[in-house]
Amino acid sequence: MQSKDLVQLAEKFGSPLYVYDAEKIQSQYNRLTKAFSKVEKLRVNYAMKALSNIAILQLLKEMGSGLDTVSIQEVLLGLHAGYDPEKIFYTPNGVSLEEIEEVSAMGVQINIDNLSILEQFGTKYPNVPVCIRINPHVMAGGNANISVGHIDSKFGISVHQLPHLVRIVENTKMNIVGIHMHTGSDILDIEVFLYAAEILFDAARNFKNLEFLDFGSGFKVPYKKDDIETDIEELGKKLSKRFNAFCIEYGKELTLIFEPGKFLVSEAGFFLAKVNVVKQTTSTVFAGIDSGFNHLIRPMFYGSQHQIENISHPKGKERFYSIVGYICETDTFANNRKIAEIKEGDILSFRNAGAYCFSMASNYNSRYKPAEVLWMNGEGHLIRAHETFEDLLKNQIPLPVAMATV
Ligand SMILES: Cc1ncc(COP(=O)(O)O)c(C=O)c1O
Repeated sequence: MQSKDLVQLAEKFGSPLYVYDAEKIQSQYNRLTKAFSKVEKLRVNYAMKALSNIAILQLLKEMGSGLDTVSIQEVLLGLHAGYDPEKIFYTPNGVSLEEIEEVSAMGVQINIDNLSILEQFGTKYPNVPVCIRINPHVMAGGNANISVGHIDSKFGISVHQLPHLVRIVENTKMNIVGIHMHTGSDILDIEVFLYAAEILFDAARNFKNLEFLDFGSGFKVPYKKDDIETDIEELGKKLSKRFNAFCIEYGKELTLIFEPGKFLVSEAGFFLAKVNVVKQTTSTVFAGIDSGFNHLIRPMFYGSQHQIENISHPKGKERFYSIVGYICETDTFANNRKIAEIKEGDILSFRNAGAYCFSMASNYNSRYKPAEVLWMNGEGHLIRAHETFEDLLKNQIPLPVAMATV
């Protein structure tokens, strides 16, 4: 899709606005499945935490994707979007046994990441097929917040606890059908995936009834011009070979699962915001937009880079700007960024706004969440309406008049 399409969508639906390009999601999905076409049984479970609008879930379902979920609410959304329970995978962390039981009763594949729950669940439901999340103790990921497979991480069951894990499985006679790991996000080096894969194979050798191995995700996508990304094609070549060899050794054709979020939707997303104020100070020129970290928290939260373009006047002379939001505390999207000269009223477009952007949005400062549009077959389809004042009041219960006037 082109910048002029984005400008028209901002005019039609207002700003701020999230726009997702369906074609890009489809091409990323196809790229991944093609890279692993040498694996007989491949399954892609979209990690819906990245972007959970049901229209996006429907789009991916049509392409054959399953879902990776982390909460019972995500499971419910997946079912609502039409996914069969068998196509949904549930990988929670730190949730109650009750929630796991409830999800399991829906027919969804559960993935357990601690020994305490494993023992309790296995004792109560020895016949229910269970997957185990291993922590391979691999330090990987773009920053500390998204590195989740290292030794100090709260995720997964340590590989060093395998003897204890095996004892629980033998004692409860529970049915372990899969082994899972996810070491982090924004992993560039494919050697990290290959190294962690060997740890997963080692763990798998302890279980006789496996049906699948889930390698999680963490593929790095490009954020800046000429940025580097995970070489999916190279990974596909190398990991498929190792995986196929492992299946021969194991004596069974296992399913290889990936659960990408960012890879599928990050680059498909654009966040559009209007410049309210251009403010010159002694040190910089601020462009203040009609949004804030309530709508796109990644720069403030992770220090992440989103390429920003002036799509209203793309040909203007480039100047340096600090792009800031309207939230009542430091709220910086970008510092010292070269952007085509900005006038008040211009629309700025933020790239890589598909993953962990709308799904992390909030109503902080009592602002409405933006609308979402899916660009498909040359047309913009509204897939979430802009919030209204009624949405802010929904579920709030005012004090009875007598109490309020005390
Ligand atoms: C268990 C699990 N799987 C998959 C993902 C998706 O990762 P990414 O968006 O890097 O593809 C995450 C991200 O946090 C995760 O925690």
